[in-house]
Amino acid sequence: EEAEKGGYEHFMLKEIHEQPRVIRDTLKGRISHQGDKVILDEINLTPQQIKGIKKIIVTACGTAYHAGLVGKYIIEQLVRIPVEVDIASEFRYRDPIVDKDTLVVVVSQSGETADTLAALREARRRGARVVAITNVIASSVAREADDIIYTWAGPEISVASTKAYTTQLVALYLLALYLAQERNTLAAGNITEILNELKAIYTKAQEVLDNEQPIKEFAEKYHQAEDTFFIGRGLDYAVALEGSLKLKEISYIHAEAYAAGELKHGTLALIVENIPVIALATQKSLFEKMVSNIKEVKARDASVIALAMEGHTEVEKVADQVIYIPKTHQVLAPILTVIPLQLLAYYMSVCRGCDVDKPRNLAKSVTVE
Ligand code: G6P
Repeated sequence: EEAEKGGYEHFMLKEIHEQPRVIRDTLKGRISHQGDKVILDEINLTPQQIKGIKKIIVTACGTAYHAGLVGKYIIEQLVRIPVEVDIASEFRYRDPIVDKDTLVVVVSQSGETADTLAALREARRRGARVVAITNVIASSVAREADDIIYTWAGPEISVASTKAYTTQLVALYLLALYLAQERNTLAAGNITEILNELKAIYTKAQEVLDNEQPIKEFAEKYHQAEDTFFIGRGLDYAVALEGSLKLKEISYIHAEAYAAGELKHGTLALIVENIPVIALATQKSLFEKMVSNIKEVKARDASVIALAMEGHTEVEKVADQVIYIPKTHQVLAPILTVIPLQLLAYYMSVCRGCDVDKPRNLAKSVTVE
């Protein structure tokens, strides 16, 4: 087992560090040389079927569900098709409104999660076309879906999912851009711009990994906290949910993610002196609003660590500490933003002496209901 860890103390840390490579692997061959076209030969929908899609439903569990939430924001923004995201165990029992004009996207690392598989079957029974995003070749989900986009994350051993999530995001970006290209919902120049940024994202992921020291220090300082909050808006909110799940899973610290605009409707009552608040402020169009939200929690003496894109230095005036992520198109920020959150959960867990790779009560793949 030590050999398999490749010199890292835990599988989770190894897998976090594999992300630049597996992101690149998942992109390989799927963007044209000129960077102007998405090539998704694995999608066998006819142009007519693509034009006929009226609604998209993404369904999944756990971390894969959180990837789906990012998917909703990007598909709606780039393709202008309404997207619902549903937890697989809810979807299958809620008599969902699905028909042949619905595209159902099932996301599952293992491809064996019982609820996700049942949701896939339910969707097909109702006549939907199902695209699977999965990491395991010939898994049950892969075998039963109409189309498969494989993530090339390689085996993920740690129960807490990291590289599977970032490669699921890559697959969702490719799918969104592919649909945008086929439905002509984005100017060619915009597609090329995002694709070129996507091609470069793995080198930026490496830069984020190279800057782990401040996260480690934050974890050392706050690992005894019992409650933490993650706040963000838009795509940052979707990533905040994943960051809070990571922390809960492996450090057993209570963590809640809130849409920052919703703080004033309740959560603000829980913000007390020194409570760690992780504020995600990478979205340019929402940056000013996030700065106001950080001020709100600082006024209650929270300890704020903010994540912002390089250049957005105004955040230093309001947060206690800032981690910068390399500049990229704001739509792609989640791939980079989640990395410091994974590292934060990891170091918090290590500082608390938890079993990082095998958290209590949790399994890597839940094949029973
Ligand atoms: C379990 C794992 C999670 C994972 C979820 C869905 O709960 O502990 O890390 O996100 O299952 O798994 P899947 O294989 O369907 O992505």
